[in-house]
Amino acid sequence: SLMSLGCQSRVASTDEIVIGHFGSITGSEATFGISTDRGIQLAIEEVNAAGGVNGKKVRLITYDDKGDPREAGSAVTRLVTRDQVTAVLGEVASGLSLAAAPICQENGVPMISPSSTNPKVTQVGDMIYRVCFIDPFQGSVCAKFARENDKIKATKAAILCDQTAPYSVGLQEEFEKAFTAGGGTIVSKQAYQAGDQDFSAQLTSIRASEPEVIFIPGYYTDVGNIALQARKLGLKVPMLGGDGWDSAKLGQIAGDALNGCYYSNHYSHEDPSPRVQNFIKLYQGKYQETPDGLAALGYDAARILFTAMKTAPSLSGKDIAAELAKTTGFEGVTGVISMDANRNPVKPAVILEMKDGTPRYVATIAPGE
Ligand code: PHE
Repeated sequence: SLMSLGCQSRVASTDEIVIGHFGSITGSEATFGISTDRGIQLAIEEVNAAGGVNGKKVRLITYDDKGDPREAGSAVTRLVTRDQVTAVLGEVASGLSLAAAPICQENGVPMISPSSTNPKVTQVGDMIYRVCFIDPFQGSVCAKFARENDKIKATKAAILCDQTAPYSVGLQEEFEKAFTAGGGTIVSKQAYQAGDQDFSAQLTSIRASEPEVIFIPGYYTDVGNIALQARKLGLKVPMLGGDGWDSAKLGQIAGDALNGCYYSNHYSHEDPSPRVQNFIKLYQGKYQETPDGLAALGYDAARILFTAMKTAPSLSGKDIAAELAKTTGFEGVTGVISMDANRNPVKPAVILEMKDGTPRYVATIAPGE
């Protein structure tokens, strides 16, 4: 019958496994998507060179969502319905993962976000995973560092938040909660919209509130512009941010305006462990550049997916998801990854300091510390 033909074509004994990636390959967060894609491709090259996943070669289809939630939704719809991918990797920005996750969930296609840290992402359902820590942890890491680091020792903090990004809004709340719980005071709370060019009104208010640190949970292009304008306005206090700062572009935009500023991240290229240094060597060999945290997370997400596929009884979404849920002690470049009951890994964060445009390792903060 027609129906069995249809079924046959879906489970056709093809010798390849097609997976999808949706990411911002262009736009003001372009390095997020480009780095993630490079990390994924490196993992695919490796698994294919070793014979593939149970004898099948892995092939990647990547779509550019341009950093736009509607584009993210249509990219994932295309991957799931037209390309019939076995699993989806993406996105970086939590707002874009949130836009696409319901589509994967409804279609029973597993999705792994390499780097979306907002807790709501995996709450969409049992098809949705991530390989990074989440923002309640990241916010407490930043608050702890702001209070305890010798060069900051802040009791008064200002916050400048991107009110258009679920990531930024969520991380702001977590930072505020942790900072005030530790006895600190938030002396000014200001907001901007992604893509704004003029931050002088917010920065002038912040200056008047005399903070000892400014927390900016934004993405790198805006953060770079904010840093330049803050220094021009004579704001000299350290700025502090989350993983959204992680891009080679940040230092290119802000230069030494960010000297003495810090951000929390998933990985440092200065980590001497062989796991990290081997990855960096492979990545540099292929791309002639040092991988950022997104590249490392993309690589880890792809490898966790292949591991689950190898042990799953079939390549159905349900079987792969069940294997992903069992991930324990996976030795990733970004740390040891074990899924908790909510499909979120629990792993340490690193603090990096910007020095003349380059992030340098400062500290590692583990959960519960
Ligand atoms: N955690 C950010 C978000 O959820 C994305 C991000 C991760 C950006 C890692 C840079 C590095 O939106």
